[in-house]
Amino acid sequence: MPDIRYDDRVVLVTGAGGGLGKAYALFFASRGAAVVVNDLGVSRSGDGHSSKAADVVVDEIVRAGGKAVANYDSVNDGDRLVDTALKAFGRLDIIINNAGILRDKSFSRMTDQDWDLIQEVHLRGSYKVTKAAWETFRKQKYGRIIMTASAAGIYGNYGQANYSSAKLALASLGFTLAREGAKYNILCNTIAPVAASRMTESVMPPEFLPALKPEFVTGLVGLLCHDSSNESGGLFEVGAGWAGKLRWERSQGRVFKADPTTFTPTAVASAWEEITEITPAKPPVYPESMADTDWVGLLERAKEQTSNPSTGSNKPEV
Ligand code: NAI
Repeated sequence: MPDIRYDDRVVLVTGAGGGLGKAYALFFASRGAAVVVNDLGVSRSGDGHSSKAADVVVDEIVRAGGKAVANYDSVNDGDRLVDTALKAFGRLDIIINNAGILRDKSFSRMTDQDWDLIQEVHLRGSYKVTKAAWETFRKQKYGRIIMTASAAGIYGNYGQANYSSAKLALASLGFTLAREGAKYNILCNTIAPVAASRMTESVMPPEFLPALKPEFVTGLVGLLCHDSSNESGGLFEVGAGWAGKLRWERSQGRVFKADPTTFTPTAVASAWEEITEITPAKPPVYPESMADTDWVGLLERAKEQTSNPSTGSNKPEV
């Protein structure tokens, strides 16, 4: 397979002044793309503002013979980021929504400000940048978008109610944009990366840090953003040179007689094992869309229970 390149493609990487974003910017530039290096230059918790972070990365790319321009706006001004790409390079093909900050606090101590700021940077910021480019992508019938989620969003994490909720919302935004973009050759995927950066270094065992370089995430992002990829609507965990895809699984569940006098908490309790069971004897189903739930079939089975009460254990509660 020939080496994958991005000649004539224009990539916008948000939060590209350090960590993962910097690794993406250097990766795409080294393979022929023109890169918009966006970074607001804030602290880990979102304070301050500096042009230095983006400038350093642009300098590194240009010194290596690549093409890059800096943008210092917040992702919340998504249209300005997209304008920078269009003015500097005349087009935009790929967006890596990567910028992020943390305001970790237990839920009881979390303020509205902690909540709003995290939602604003991660969720609204990715929305604003992507929305600003959407018509361009539709018209040119080409677009590649990466959303950045987190394992904290997929599984939940103590002290990260604001961050985890924003991060899983990004995966959901990605699922929907993949559907809406399909007929325009706009592909959208979500990654939950793990990498040593200023965001994570202090919570990772030092001996792991060399194995968790941000560069060990770029291979997956690179493929998902290439012309040759058809993958869309995916959610991947990636880090340390490993990548895996996630999907939903659901138990087969239990159909109750469609009657509120019998579909009671007590009936649910007595069928709890059946509702929750996922075993080799009762393997899970893997729904991929809303249409994968056979509501017509379920209603038929519920009717059968109604017409043949002997099959249902849910007798009216007294
Ligand atoms: P980082 O802190 O090294 O880089 C984030 C960059 O985003 C910074 O340079 C910062 O100035 C910039 N930024 C922050 N707010 C901005 C805004 N409003 N507009 C423009 N730029 C802004 O962090 P890291 O580790 O590289 O994280 C990158 C992304 O990956 C983040 O979305 C993070 O939540 C996510 N992530 C990282 C993980 C990791 O293990 N490093 C784990 C899970 C998710």
